[in-house]
Amino acid sequence: MVLVIPEGYVIRKAKEDDINGVIYINSVTLPEHYTTSFYNSILSTNPETFLVVEYEGRIIGYHMGRIEYGLTFKGMPRFVKKGHVISIAVLKEHRRKGVGTILLKTALEEFAKKGCEVSFLEVRISNEPAINLYKKLGYEIVDRIHGYYNDGEDAYVMEKTLETKF
Ligand code: ACO
Ligand code: ZN
Repeated sequence: MVLVIPEGYVIRKAKEDDINGVIYINSVTLPEHYTTSFYNSILSTNPETFLVVEYEGRIIGYHMGRIEYGLTFKGMPRFVKKGHVISIAVLKEHRRKGVGTILLKTALEEFAKKGCEVSFLEVRISNEPAINLYKKLGYEIVDRIHGYYNDGEDAYVMEKTLETKF
């Protein structure tokens, strides 16, 4: 698969020095926050899928993922290696340019390289932009978790089957 990144944007693996920038983006884009030690532990255990996008030397988007083992939802339930999209976000002024797509596609390639059979995530049922992005990249809604978020909103669980070549 050829990945085309919009001009001026650079995608790369995150480093420890990037965590403050990632925390900033998370704080202004999402209501779900994590401790600094959580970000650092994901960076040290899952560095291949902790990705950032830079524009003019500043981080403007990130993807944080983790490889887990669990049941698939699609087809006969099976215990498999899964790529969990924990959190993805792009600063508002850089949205709708393909940055989210490049972050997620790159993460999916890395999950596949690591032997994940599927990728999954949870998303607020009201989060149309994100749900559209996931559907565009082949995720399907496979479950709904009632009251998943702190404010009581439900989550969709979305899953995508990974191929080594896509
Ligand atoms: N309305 C409808 N569809 C949208 C929108 C929107 N505002 N934004 C993106 N999409 C869909 C479209 O299908 C779009 O394709 P198109 O532009 O060809 O129509 C597709 O997503 C890809 O868009 P990108 O430009 O690649 O995505 P972007 O860089 O804008 O990032 C993201 C999308 C990450 C969801 C961004 O809107 C964001 O940061 N939102 C706030 C944080 C957030 O909600 N993160 C996801 C939480 S769930 C989780 O992390 C597991
Ligand atoms: Zn999750």
